[in-house]
Amino acid sequence: MRLLMTIAAGLALSVAGLAQDQKTQIKKVPAQATSPASGVEMFRAYCAACHGLDAKGTGPAASALKMAPANLTLLMKKNNGKSPILAVQNMIQGDNSPAAHGSRDMPMRGDIFRAVCASKAVVDIRIRNLRDYIESLQEK
Ligand code: HEC
Repeated sequence: MRLLMTIAAGLALSVAGLAQDQKTQIKKVPAQATSPASGVEMFRAYCAACHGLDAKGTGPAASALKMAPANLTLLMKKNNGKSPILAVQNMIQGDNSPAAHGSRDMPMRGDIFRAVCASKAVVDIRIRNLRDYIESLQEK
C-alpha cells in the first residue's frame, strides 16, 4: 500500500527505507489558509498530520518520520506540572530547537505562518492561539 500524505507547510520529507510494501510519503504542499483566531483549526491544518488529531503523537505521517512526534498532551506532566506554554511557543516559532531536533522532522512553524500571512502582528496572534490550544489539551 502506498500512502501519500500531504502536509500543509514548508517541509519536504521524502521517505525511503521503510518496509517496501508500506511506504509513507510526505509531500510538500502550500500552507493552507486558516483563521488566526482558531487554535484548533491551525492545529488540524499544520500539526495533526504528525502529532495526530488528538495530539498524542500518532498522526498519519508519524511512521514516515525518523523521530516519533511528541505526545503534546503530556507536556505539562513532563514539565513537573507547570505550564509548557513557553516551550510550546518557542517550538512553534523555531527559537528553540533542542538537540533532539537535529532531525528537523519537526518543522519550524513560524516560517509557515509568515508564509500564509505577511503581518507580524497576525503571526504573533496565530502563535498565541495555537499555543493556548495546546495548553488546553494538557492532561492534569
Ligand atoms: C512533520 C511532522 C511534524 C509536524 C507537521 C509538527 N510536528 Fe511537532 N514534532 C514532530 C516531531 C518528530 C517531534 C519530536 C522530535 C523533535 O522534538 O524534533 C515534535 C516535537 C514537538 C514539540 C516538543 C515536544 C516536547 O516534548 O518537548 C512541540 C511542542 C511540537 N512538536 C509542537 C508542534 C506544533 C504546535 C505543530 C503545528 C504547528 C507541530 N508540532 C507540527 C513532528 C512534527
